Amino acid sequence: MIKNLTILVLFLSTSFLGLKLMQAEGEAMPVNPSVSSSGSAAHVQGPSPSCPHGMKDYLPRKLGFTGAELLNRIKESTTSSSSQKMRMSLGSLTANANSLFYDNFMKLVGPQFLGSCEQRVCAPERSTVSRLTKDVNVLKHVHSHNDYWRSLPLFEALSYGVSSVEADVWLVQNNTELAVGHNEGFLEAEVRNLETLYTGPLLSMLDEVNCHDWDSDEKYGVFYNSPETTLYLYIDFKSEDNIRTYDLLLTKYLKPLIDSGYLSYFDLETNSVIWNPITIVLTGDYPQNTTVLDHGNQDGYFHSMQRFAFLDAPLHKLDQVDATLSVVASCSLEQLLESCSFSDPYAQQSSELSREQLECMWPTIKQAHELNLKTRLWGVPDWPRYKRDNLWKQQLEYLQMDFLNVDDLAAISKF
Ligand SMILES: *[C@@H]1O[C@H](CO)[C@@H](O)[C@H](O)[C@H]1NC(C)=O
Ligand SMILES: *[C@@H]1O[C@H](CO)[C@@H](O)[C@H](O)[C@H]1NC(C)=O
Repeated sequence: MIKNLTILVLFLSTSFLGLKLMQAEGEAMPVNPSVSSSGSAAHVQGPSPSCPHGMKDYLPRKLGFTGAELLNRIKESTTSSSSQKMRMSLGSLTANANSLFYDNFMKLVGPQFLGSCEQRVCAPERSTVSRLTKDVNVLKHVHSHNDYWRSLPLFEALSYGVSSVEADVWLVQNNTELAVGHNEGFLEAEVRNLETLYTGPLLSMLDEVNCHDWDSDEKYGVFYNSPETTLYLYIDFKSEDNIRTYDLLLTKYLKPLIDSGYLSYFDLETNSVIWNPITIVLTGDYPQNTTVLDHGNQDGYFHSMQRFAFLDAPLHKLDQVDATLSVVASCSLEQLLESCSFSDPYAQQSSELSREQLECMWPTIKQAHELNLKTRLWGVPDWPRYKRDNLWKQQLEYLQMDFLNVDDLAAISKF
Protein backbone atom coordinates (compact mmCIF):
# COMPACT_ATOMS: atom_id res chain seq x y z
CA MET A 1 0.00 0.00 0.00
CA ILE A 2 2.70 2.44 1.03
CA LYS A 3 4.69 1.44 -1.99
CA ASN A 4 1.79 2.05 -4.35
CA LEU A 5 1.06 5.33 -2.71
CA THR A 6 4.58 6.63 -3.03
CA ILE A 7 4.76 5.61 -6.64
CA LEU A 8 1.47 7.38 -7.25
CA VAL A 9 2.74 10.49 -5.52
CA LEU A 10 5.91 10.36 -7.57
CA PHE A 11 3.87 9.97 -10.72
CA LEU A 12 1.48 12.79 -9.94
CA SER A 13 4.23 15.11 -8.89
CA THR A 14 6.08 14.66 -12.13
CA SER A 15 3.15 14.54 -14.51
CA PHE A 16 2.54 18.26 -14.30
CA LEU A 17 5.90 18.65 -15.94
CA GLY A 18 4.48 16.73 -18.87
CA LEU A 19 4.29 19.63 -21.28
CA LYS A 20 7.80 20.65 -20.63
CA LEU A 21 9.00 17.06 -20.95
CA MET A 22 7.34 16.67 -24.33
CA GLN A 23 9.04 19.79 -25.51
CA ALA A 24 12.40 18.46 -24.43
CA GLU A 25 11.74 15.09 -26.04
CA GLY A 26 12.04 16.56 -29.53
CA GLU A 27 15.32 18.31 -28.88
CA ALA A 28 18.69 16.90 -29.66
CA MET A 29 20.78 15.84 -26.71
CA PRO A 30 23.07 18.79 -26.13
CA VAL A 31 26.73 18.35 -25.65
CA ASN A 32 27.39 19.00 -22.04
CA PRO A 33 31.08 19.26 -21.31
CA SER A 34 30.61 19.80 -17.61
CA VAL A 35 29.01 16.42 -17.02
CA SER A 36 31.87 14.22 -16.10
CA SER A 37 31.70 10.60 -17.08
CA SER A 38 33.44 9.22 -14.07
CA GLY A 39 31.96 11.45 -11.45
CA SER A 40 35.07 13.54 -10.98
CA ALA A 41 32.94 16.65 -10.75
CA ALA A 42 31.17 15.46 -7.65
CA HIS A 43 30.04 17.01 -4.44
CA VAL A 44 32.80 16.25 -2.07
CA GLN A 45 35.78 17.85 -3.64
CA GLY A 46 36.63 20.36 -6.29
CA PRO A 47 34.58 23.26 -7.58
CA SER A 48 31.08 22.63 -8.86
CA PRO A 49 30.69 23.00 -12.59
CA SER A 50 28.72 26.00 -13.66
CA CYS A 51 25.56 25.42 -15.63
CA PRO A 52 26.22 25.41 -19.33
CA HIS A 53 24.17 27.71 -21.46
CA GLY A 54 20.70 26.33 -22.08
CA MET A 55 21.05 23.75 -19.33
CA LYS A 56 17.74 24.60 -17.79
CA ASP A 57 15.91 23.42 -20.90
CA TYR A 58 17.78 20.17 -20.99
CA LEU A 59 16.24 17.03 -19.66
CA PRO A 60 17.72 13.64 -20.41
CA ARG A 61 15.65 11.50 -22.71
CA LYS A 62 14.37 8.13 -21.71
CA LEU A 63 15.84 5.39 -23.82
CA GLY A 64 12.76 3.20 -24.00
CA PHE A 65 14.24 0.27 -22.09
CA THR A 66 15.53 -0.08 -18.57
CA GLY A 67 17.34 -2.50 -16.30
CA ALA A 68 19.51 -5.28 -17.64
CA GLU A 69 18.30 -4.77 -21.20
CA LEU A 70 19.48 -1.19 -21.11
CA LEU A 71 22.90 -2.31 -19.90
CA ASN A 72 23.19 -4.95 -22.59
CA ARG A 73 22.31 -2.48 -25.32
CA ILE A 74 24.89 0.00 -24.13
CA LYS A 75 27.42 -2.82 -23.92
CA GLU A 76 26.65 -3.83 -27.50
CA SER A 77 26.85 -0.31 -28.81
CA THR A 78 30.13 0.18 -27.00
CA THR A 79 31.73 -2.64 -28.94
CA SER A 80 30.01 -2.11 -32.29
CA SER A 81 31.67 -0.09 -35.01
CA SER A 82 28.88 2.44 -34.97
CA SER A 83 30.14 3.55 -31.61
CA GLN A 84 33.33 4.75 -33.19
CA LYS A 85 32.05 8.30 -33.10
CA MET A 86 31.27 8.08 -29.42
CA ARG A 87 34.69 6.64 -28.80
CA MET A 88 36.27 9.61 -30.53
CA SER A 89 34.20 12.07 -28.56
CA LEU A 90 35.25 10.38 -25.36
CA GLY A 91 38.89 10.74 -26.25
CA SER A 92 39.23 13.96 -24.32
CA LEU A 93 37.97 12.26 -21.21
CA THR A 94 40.45 9.43 -21.23
CA ALA A 95 42.49 10.85 -18.41
CA ASN A 96 39.47 10.62 -16.11
CA ALA A 97 37.83 7.65 -17.69
CA ASN A 98 36.98 4.41 -16.01
CA SER A 99 36.26 2.23 -19.01
CA LEU A 100 34.61 2.92 -22.33
CA PHE A 101 31.55 0.94 -21.27
CA TYR A 102 31.33 2.75 -17.94
CA ASP A 103 31.74 6.13 -19.57
CA ASN A 104 29.17 5.41 -22.26
CA PHE A 105 26.78 4.22 -19.61
CA MET A 106 27.31 7.33 -17.49
CA LYS A 107 26.80 9.54 -20.50
CA LEU A 108 23.50 7.95 -21.42
CA VAL A 109 22.06 6.93 -18.07
CA GLY A 110 24.20 8.36 -15.27
CA PRO A 111 23.11 11.34 -13.19
CA GLN A 112 23.16 14.43 -15.36
CA PHE A 113 23.63 16.94 -12.64
CA LEU A 114 26.75 15.94 -10.84
CA GLY A 115 27.73 18.97 -8.89
CA SER A 116 25.39 21.80 -8.20
CA CYS A 117 23.68 23.74 -10.89
CA GLU A 118 21.36 26.55 -9.93
CA GLN A 119 19.21 26.13 -12.97
CA ARG A 120 18.64 22.43 -12.67
CA VAL A 121 15.15 21.16 -13.30
CA CYS A 122 13.37 18.93 -10.84
CA ALA A 123 12.20 16.00 -12.97
CA PRO A 124 12.42 12.67 -11.13
CA GLU A 125 10.72 10.89 -14.03
CA ARG A 126 13.82 11.71 -16.10
CA SER A 127 16.27 10.77 -13.38
CA THR A 128 18.83 8.00 -13.47
CA VAL A 129 16.71 6.08 -10.97
CA SER A 130 13.78 6.16 -13.37
CA ARG A 131 15.80 5.58 -16.53
CA LEU A 132 17.66 2.64 -15.03
CA THR A 133 15.28 0.90 -12.64
CA LYS A 134 11.72 1.62 -13.77
CA ASP A 135 9.91 -1.73 -14.20
CA VAL A 136 12.81 -3.56 -12.55
CA ASN A 137 11.68 -5.82 -9.71
CA VAL A 138 13.72 -5.32 -6.59
CA LEU A 139 15.64 -8.42 -5.46
CA LYS A 140 15.66 -7.84 -1.74
CA HIS A 141 17.38 -11.16 -1.12
CA VAL A 142 20.46 -10.61 -3.28
CA HIS A 143 23.90 -9.26 -2.36
CA SER A 144 26.17 -8.41 -5.28
CA HIS A 145 29.37 -10.21 -4.33
CA ASN A 146 32.54 -8.25 -5.25
CA ASP A 147 30.36 -5.58 -6.78
CA TYR A 148 33.23 -3.17 -7.35
CA TRP A 149 34.84 -5.84 -9.56
CA ARG A 150 32.11 -5.68 -12.18
CA SER A 151 32.51 -3.64 -15.35
CA LEU A 152 29.78 -1.36 -14.05
CA PRO A 153 30.16 -1.15 -10.28
CA LEU A 154 26.90 -0.22 -8.53
CA PHE A 155 24.86 0.28 -11.71
CA GLU A 156 24.87 -3.31 -12.89
CA ALA A 157 23.49 -4.39 -9.52
CA LEU A 158 20.85 -1.65 -9.59
CA SER A 159 19.83 -2.61 -13.11
CA TYR A 160 18.95 -6.08 -11.80
CA GLY A 161 17.19 -4.62 -8.77
CA VAL A 162 19.87 -5.96 -6.41
CA SER A 163 19.60 -4.24 -3.04
CA SER A 164 23.04 -4.89 -1.55
CA VAL A 165 26.51 -4.06 -2.92
CA GLU A 166 30.06 -4.01 -1.60
CA ALA A 167 33.27 -2.06 -2.13
CA ASP A 168 36.75 -3.06 -0.90
CA VAL A 169 38.53 0.10 0.25
CA TRP A 170 42.23 0.87 0.73
CA LEU A 171 43.74 3.84 2.46
CA VAL A 172 46.02 5.57 -0.08
CA GLN A 173 47.64 8.90 -0.98
CA ASN A 174 49.03 9.57 2.46
CA ASN A 175 45.75 8.59 4.12
CA THR A 176 43.63 11.07 2.21
CA GLU A 177 41.77 8.80 -0.20
CA LEU A 178 39.92 5.49 -0.13
CA ALA A 179 40.73 3.64 -3.32
CA VAL A 180 38.38 0.85 -4.41
CA GLY A 181 39.86 -2.39 -5.71
CA HIS A 182 40.72 -5.99 -5.08
CA ASN A 183 44.50 -5.86 -4.85
CA GLU A 184 46.63 -3.15 -3.35
CA GLY A 185 48.99 -3.39 -6.31
CA PHE A 186 46.32 -2.62 -8.90
CA LEU A 187 44.60 0.42 -7.48
CA GLU A 188 43.78 3.47 -9.57
CA ALA A 189 42.84 5.90 -6.87
CA GLU A 190 42.10 8.93 -9.06
CA VAL A 191 39.49 7.11 -11.12
CA ARG A 192 38.37 4.29 -8.89
CA ASN A 193 37.80 5.61 -5.43
CA LEU A 194 34.82 5.37 -3.12
CA GLU A 195 33.44 8.68 -4.29
CA THR A 196 33.74 8.23 -8.05
CA LEU A 197 32.29 4.72 -8.02
CA TYR A 198 29.79 4.81 -5.18
CA THR A 199 29.09 7.78 -2.95
CA GLY A 200 29.28 10.42 -5.70
CA PRO A 201 26.84 8.74 -8.11
CA LEU A 202 24.53 7.75 -5.23
CA LEU A 203 24.36 11.32 -3.96
CA SER A 204 23.55 12.66 -7.42
CA MET A 205 20.97 9.94 -8.07
CA LEU A 206 19.22 10.60 -4.79
CA ASP A 207 19.32 14.36 -5.32
CA GLU A 208 17.58 13.85 -8.66
CA VAL A 209 14.63 12.02 -7.10
CA ASN A 210 14.45 14.10 -3.93
CA CYS A 211 14.47 17.52 -5.56
CA HIS A 212 10.91 18.52 -4.70
CA ASP A 213 10.64 21.41 -2.30
CA TRP A 214 7.91 19.78 -0.28
CA ASP A 215 8.48 19.29 3.38
CA SER A 216 9.05 15.64 4.14
CA ASP A 217 11.55 13.49 5.94
CA GLU A 218 10.70 10.60 3.67
CA LYS A 219 13.34 10.19 1.03
CA TYR A 220 13.00 8.31 -2.21
CA GLY A 221 15.58 5.59 -2.68
CA VAL A 222 17.37 4.20 -5.71
CA PHE A 223 14.66 1.80 -6.88
CA TYR A 224 11.85 3.31 -8.92
CA ASN A 225 9.43 0.44 -8.30
CA SER A 226 10.19 0.34 -4.60
CA PRO A 227 11.37 3.77 -3.45
CA GLU A 228 11.24 2.77 0.22
CA THR A 229 13.75 -0.08 -0.20
CA THR A 230 17.14 0.71 1.28
CA LEU A 231 20.35 -0.10 -0.59
CA TYR A 232 22.95 -1.80 1.62
CA LEU A 233 26.44 -0.49 0.84
CA TYR A 234 29.09 -2.70 2.43
CA ILE A 235 32.47 -1.06 2.99
CA ASP A 236 35.10 -3.78 3.24
CA PHE A 237 38.07 -2.48 5.28
CA LYS A 238 41.33 -3.66 3.72
CA SER A 239 44.00 -1.42 5.26
CA GLU A 240 45.68 -1.93 8.57
CA ASP A 241 44.80 1.49 9.93
CA ASN A 242 41.09 0.90 10.29
CA ILE A 243 40.54 3.90 12.55
CA ARG A 244 41.94 6.30 9.96
CA THR A 245 39.93 4.48 7.27
CA TYR A 246 36.78 4.91 9.34
CA ASP A 247 37.41 8.61 10.03
CA LEU A 248 38.04 9.28 6.35
CA LEU A 249 34.95 7.28 5.39
CA LEU A 250 32.76 9.34 7.70
CA THR A 251 34.20 12.81 7.20
CA LYS A 252 35.02 12.74 3.52
CA TYR A 253 32.76 10.22 1.79
CA LEU A 254 29.62 9.83 3.87
CA LYS A 255 29.19 13.37 5.20
CA PRO A 256 27.46 14.70 2.06
CA LEU A 257 25.00 11.76 2.14
CA ILE A 258 24.45 12.32 5.86
CA ASP A 259 23.82 16.04 5.38
CA SER A 260 21.13 15.26 2.82
CA GLY A 261 19.42 12.75 5.12
CA TYR A 262 20.10 9.77 2.85
CA LEU A 263 21.75 7.40 5.32
CA SER A 264 20.05 5.01 7.72
CA TYR A 265 21.23 5.49 11.29
CA PHE A 266 21.03 4.18 14.79
CA ASP A 267 19.24 6.75 16.92
CA LEU A 268 21.22 7.00 20.15
CA GLU A 269 18.28 8.63 21.94
CA THR A 270 15.63 6.04 21.18
CA ASN A 271 17.99 3.09 20.58
CA SER A 272 16.27 2.30 17.32
CA VAL A 273 17.22 2.08 13.66
CA ILE A 274 15.89 4.78 11.35
CA TRP A 275 15.88 3.55 7.77
CA ASN A 276 16.79 5.74 4.83
CA PRO A 277 17.73 5.13 1.15
CA ILE A 278 21.29 3.95 1.87
CA THR A 279 22.45 1.73 4.74
CA ILE A 280 26.20 1.58 5.38
CA VAL A 281 27.61 -1.72 6.66
CA LEU A 282 31.24 -2.08 7.74
CA THR A 283 32.83 -5.41 6.96
CA GLY A 284 36.34 -6.88 6.79
CA ASP A 285 38.83 -5.45 9.30
CA TYR A 286 36.57 -2.68 10.66
CA PRO A 287 36.89 -0.95 14.04
CA GLN A 288 34.61 -2.64 16.54
CA ASN A 289 34.29 -0.40 19.51
CA THR A 290 31.92 2.48 20.00
CA THR A 291 34.69 4.83 21.12
CA VAL A 292 35.97 4.73 17.56
CA LEU A 293 32.55 4.54 15.94
CA ASP A 294 31.33 7.63 17.79
CA HIS A 295 34.69 9.44 17.73
CA GLY A 296 34.87 9.35 21.50
CA ASN A 297 31.66 11.38 21.81
CA GLN A 298 28.68 10.51 23.97
CA ASP A 299 26.40 12.08 21.38
CA GLY A 300 27.68 10.42 18.23
CA TYR A 301 30.37 11.14 15.65
CA PHE A 302 28.83 14.43 14.52
CA HIS A 303 27.19 15.29 17.88
CA SER A 304 23.75 14.51 16.47
CA MET A 305 22.90 11.43 18.57
CA GLN A 306 23.18 9.32 15.42
CA ARG A 307 25.46 6.46 14.36
CA PHE A 308 25.66 6.06 10.60
CA ALA A 309 27.59 2.83 10.22
CA PHE A 310 26.41 -0.67 11.10
CA LEU A 311 28.73 -3.61 11.65
CA ASP A 312 28.58 -6.86 9.73
CA ALA A 313 28.28 -9.13 12.76
CA PRO A 314 29.97 -12.55 12.75
CA LEU A 315 27.07 -14.96 12.26
CA HIS A 316 29.04 -17.88 13.68
CA LYS A 317 29.82 -15.99 16.93
CA LEU A 318 26.50 -14.40 17.76
CA ASP A 319 27.08 -14.86 21.47
CA GLN A 320 29.88 -12.29 21.29
CA VAL A 321 27.84 -9.79 19.31
CA ASP A 322 26.34 -6.49 20.44
CA ALA A 323 23.30 -6.66 18.18
CA THR A 324 22.51 -2.96 18.62
CA LEU A 325 25.59 -2.18 16.50
CA SER A 326 24.43 -4.30 13.58
CA VAL A 327 21.58 -4.88 11.18
CA VAL A 328 23.20 -7.78 9.32
CA ALA A 329 25.37 -10.78 10.11
CA SER A 330 27.47 -13.03 7.92
CA CYS A 331 30.07 -15.77 7.90
CA SER A 332 31.26 -18.45 5.51
CA LEU A 333 29.40 -21.70 5.06
CA GLU A 334 32.45 -23.45 6.46
CA GLN A 335 32.51 -21.26 9.58
CA LEU A 336 28.85 -21.84 10.23
CA LEU A 337 29.16 -25.60 9.86
CA GLU A 338 32.17 -25.65 12.14
CA SER A 339 30.43 -23.50 14.73
CA CYS A 340 27.61 -25.99 15.01
CA SER A 341 30.24 -28.71 15.30
CA PHE A 342 29.97 -30.29 11.93
CA SER A 343 33.38 -31.85 12.00
CA ASP A 344 33.98 -32.19 8.29
CA PRO A 345 33.20 -28.88 6.61
CA TYR A 346 34.09 -30.36 3.26
CA ALA A 347 31.15 -32.66 3.53
CA GLN A 348 29.86 -30.23 0.91
CA GLN A 349 30.92 -32.52 -1.86
CA SER A 350 27.41 -33.62 -2.60
CA SER A 351 25.10 -31.58 -4.76
CA GLU A 352 23.23 -30.12 -1.83
CA LEU A 353 23.40 -29.71 1.93
CA SER A 354 22.33 -32.73 3.94
CA ARG A 355 19.42 -32.72 6.33
CA GLU A 356 21.91 -32.92 9.25
CA GLN A 357 23.86 -29.92 8.02
CA LEU A 358 20.72 -27.86 7.56
CA GLU A 359 19.44 -28.78 11.01
CA CYS A 360 22.81 -27.92 12.48
CA MET A 361 22.79 -24.43 10.93
CA TRP A 362 19.17 -23.50 11.37
CA PRO A 363 19.20 -22.51 15.08
CA THR A 364 21.91 -19.91 14.38
CA ILE A 365 19.87 -18.30 11.62
CA LYS A 366 16.86 -18.29 13.91
CA GLN A 367 18.89 -16.68 16.69
CA ALA A 368 20.11 -13.98 14.30
CA HIS A 369 16.55 -13.23 13.27
CA GLU A 370 15.52 -12.95 16.91
CA LEU A 371 18.27 -10.33 17.24
CA ASN A 372 16.81 -8.48 14.20
CA LEU A 373 19.86 -9.32 12.11
CA LYS A 374 19.57 -10.19 8.45
CA THR A 375 21.73 -13.12 7.46
CA ARG A 376 24.12 -13.95 4.62
CA LEU A 377 26.52 -16.79 3.92
CA TRP A 378 29.60 -16.47 1.75
CA GLY A 379 31.93 -19.13 0.41
CA VAL A 380 28.98 -21.23 -0.73
CA PRO A 381 29.97 -23.36 -3.76
CA ASP A 382 28.50 -21.96 -6.96
CA TRP A 383 29.67 -24.57 -9.44
CA PRO A 384 28.36 -26.60 -11.15
CA ARG A 385 25.22 -24.64 -11.81
CA TYR A 386 22.71 -27.27 -10.69
CA LYS A 387 24.52 -27.39 -7.36
CA ARG A 388 24.54 -23.59 -7.06
CA ASP A 389 20.81 -23.55 -7.76
CA ASN A 390 20.17 -26.27 -5.18
CA LEU A 391 22.13 -24.32 -2.59
CA TRP A 392 20.32 -21.07 -3.40
CA LYS A 393 17.03 -22.88 -2.94
CA GLN A 394 18.08 -24.47 0.34
CA GLN A 395 19.38 -21.19 1.70
CA LEU A 396 16.16 -19.36 0.87
CA GLU A 397 13.60 -22.03 1.59
CA TYR A 398 15.02 -24.09 4.40
CA LEU A 399 17.44 -21.74 6.13
CA GLN A 400 15.48 -18.57 5.38
CA MET A 401 18.66 -16.66 4.71
CA ASP A 402 17.94 -13.01 3.99
CA PHE A 403 20.69 -12.52 1.41
CA LEU A 404 22.30 -14.77 -1.15
CA ASN A 405 25.89 -13.86 -1.95
CA VAL A 406 25.71 -13.77 -5.73
CA ASP A 407 28.22 -13.42 -8.55
CA ASP A 408 25.92 -14.11 -11.49
CA LEU A 409 23.25 -11.42 -11.29
CA ALA A 410 21.60 -12.42 -14.56
CA ALA A 411 21.12 -15.95 -13.26
CA ILE A 412 19.62 -14.93 -9.93
CA SER A 413 17.26 -12.51 -11.63
CA LYS A 414 15.75 -15.47 -13.51
CA PHE A 415 15.88 -17.86 -10.55
C1 LIG B 1 51.29 13.06 4.95
O1 LIG B 1 50.36 13.57 5.91
C2 LIG B 1 50.96 14.05 7.09
C3 LIG B 1 49.86 14.38 8.06
O2 LIG B 1 48.87 15.18 7.48
C4 LIG B 1 51.88 15.23 6.77
O3 LIG B 1 52.49 15.72 7.94
C5 LIG B 1 52.93 14.79 5.77
O4 LIG B 1 53.71 15.88 5.39
C6 LIG B 1 52.27 14.15 4.55
N1 LIG B 1 53.31 13.59 3.71
C7 LIG B 1 53.36 13.80 2.41
C8 LIG B 1 54.47 13.12 1.68
O5 LIG B 1 52.57 14.52 1.82
C1 LIG C 1 38.38 1.33 21.67
O1 LIG C 1 39.35 1.85 20.76
C2 LIG C 1 40.14 2.88 21.30
C3 LIG C 1 40.99 3.44 20.20
O2 LIG C 1 41.79 2.44 19.64
C4 LIG C 1 40.95 2.34 22.47
O3 LIG C 1 41.73 3.38 23.02
C5 LIG C 1 40.00 1.78 23.51
O4 LIG C 1 40.72 1.17 24.53
C6 LIG C 1 39.05 0.77 22.91
N1 LIG C 1 38.04 0.41 23.89
C7 LIG C 1 37.67 -0.83 24.10
C8 LIG C 1 36.63 -1.02 25.13
O5 LIG C 1 38.14 -1.77 23.50
